[in-house]
Amino acid sequence: MNLKQVTLAMAKGRTAKESLQLLEKANITFPDFNEESRKLVFYSADQMIKMIYVKAVDVTTYVEEGAADIGIVGRDNILEAGADIYELLDLKLGECRFVVASLKDIVIEQGVTLKVASKYPNVAKNYFATKGMHVDTIKLNGSVELAPIIDMADCIVDIVETGGTIKENGLQIVDTVEQISTRLVVNKASFATKTEQIRTFLSDLKGVLKS
Ligand code: PRP
Repeated sequence: MNLKQVTLAMAKGRTAKESLQLLEKANITFPDFNEESRKLVFYSADQMIKMIYVKAVDVTTYVEEGAADIGIVGRDNILEAGADIYELLDLKLGECRFVVASLKDIVIEQGVTLKVASKYPNVAKNYFATKGMHVDTIKLNGSVELAPIIDMADCIVDIVETGGTIKENGLQIVDTVEQISTRLVVNKASFATKTEQIRTFLSDLKGVLKS
């Protein structure tokens, strides 16, 4: 085992390609990586980074558990997980936002109990809690925009990127909850024990980030 090696949990999906391109700009390459492959573990050319390629929703779990020292994942998953980890760098990829959207005008005020459908029930609960509201959440795993249309929920909390899905389904944005982008997260103990390697990784990435 290479004690200096850092394990990176990389989120599969939308931003994986751009994240790997960013790493490549910083001269961190994974020669055996292939998106089509079913392999889950890849090594950087200099063997200093071991990359596990995992579901975005699981990245914070690997990092919090210490199975990965660092992770690259969207802030949507970070907020939903509420994990005890450091979020150290905004990679400025996959920029979008969490919004509240509905078919009709809804009242956001104390005393009203809304039914809210979301892939991110914790984000939804936390947002409405800041308004002093308790909400009933309905957890969905996709096609969230459907919930108000079929009268299953009063509104949704979901991600908007281009706004196309909201528009095509006749919904309107009621409020913006939070800006989202891909972030670098770090396990707290690893940051203490592998400080030098992690700091080097961070500064290499900072050096190639778009300003
Ligand atoms: C996401 C999100 C919205 C859509 C927003 O869904 O949940 O539905 O993208 O993008 P837009 O503003 O550019 O239209 P995703 O594509 O991941 O599919 P899903 O509905 O299966 O979750």
